[in-house]
Amino acid sequence: MTTSDKLHNSRFLKACRGEPTDCTPIWLMRQAGRYMPEYQAVRAGRSFLELCKTPELAAKVTLDAQRILGVDAAILFADLLPILETVGMKLEYLEGEGPQLSPPIREAADVDRLIERDPVESMPFVYDAIRIIRKELPGDIPLIGFAGAPFTLAAYAIEGEASRNFVHTKTLMFSDRGAWHALMGLLSRVIAKYLHAQIDAGVQAVQLFDSWVGTLAPEDYREFVLPHSYAVLQSIKGRVPVIHFGVGTSTLLPFMAAAGGDVMGLDWHTPIASTREKLGFKAVQGNLDPCTLFAPRDELKRKAMQVLDDAGDNPGHIFNLGHGILPKTPVDNVKFLVDFVHESTRR
Ligand code: CP3
Repeated sequence: MTTSDKLHNSRFLKACRGEPTDCTPIWLMRQAGRYMPEYQAVRAGRSFLELCKTPELAAKVTLDAQRILGVDAAILFADLLPILETVGMKLEYLEGEGPQLSPPIREAADVDRLIERDPVESMPFVYDAIRIIRKELPGDIPLIGFAGAPFTLAAYAIEGEASRNFVHTKTLMFSDRGAWHALMGLLSRVIAKYLHAQIDAGVQAVQLFDSWVGTLAPEDYREFVLPHSYAVLQSIKGRVPVIHFGVGTSTLLPFMAAAGGDVMGLDWHTPIASTREKLGFKAVQGNLDPCTLFAPRDELKRKAMQVLDDAGDNPGHIFNLGHGILPKTPVDNVKFLVDFVHESTRR
């Protein structure tokens, strides 16, 4: 088999297409990160952004995580937010405080100051990392690229940091539709170009992270977000499978599905089987609570089995957490979970 056949026939890509697999594929959001000593060693003595912008190191971290865990896909090591740097914002990761973007976008004049730069030119380190990873990854392991969705990136740009209530975001959304749609439109165009460039560089699938969209009422998603996520997903449709993911999205899923994507990412609030039945998803990803990885093995097994039982024998299930791996997660429990999912679903 050629490498492209091997990739095409990999468990992960088969499941993305809704085809049967020899066992359920698994990868984990944030599988490379601070919980892993190998990551801490590479991160020591340099900033997180420096790590993201050094292709050899980003590639090493990506490859280490896939190999150590034995997962069925690698995910590019990068972050959601550097794309906001390229449109003109200042980005810093402060120890213990998380990402900070400045100055925050609060009104129409701030939106007008953003620069619509082409991420093909402004983010070469990402595509260089992809090319290195693709060369080094086993031939049957797909590489997943990703980007933040327009809403989640807009929320970071407007709040300037993580937020609980998204007051500034919703204030702009509800008080100046013109500025809101201008910001979302600009972000959508840049995100679409960024995803095209990742696909050109060699990723086999992409995930659109709308991590904070669960803060919205369904009607607001429909009016203020759907057209923009749709524009991004329509632009890349058919090139590679797309996973469309958000947290707290139970009531938003019909609209997120209308925006697009081949695989819907579900969190632990959303049952798999009944949701698939109701909304007709061909493929789903999820949805174990990341905190389960801190539990004793018996409980971890029981909770993982609940997810597998809920998914049932239907093809098109990619096992994952409902959100990213948390810092301090025991690495052995993650490896145990990967083996458990493979062994208990072997058909
Ligand atoms: O999944 C992976 O392994 C790929 C790498 C990845 C990272 N961030 C690495 C990272 C991915 C896909 C992301 C996405 C991301 N980044 C999201 C959406 C993901 C989700 O969980 O829904 C968000 C909201 C961000 C923004 C961001 N970057 C946050 C909130 C933080 C944590 C800040 C903190 O101090 O806790 C980051 C930093 C970050 N991104 C780290 C890693 C490994 C930790 C950096 C470090 O200190 O070494």
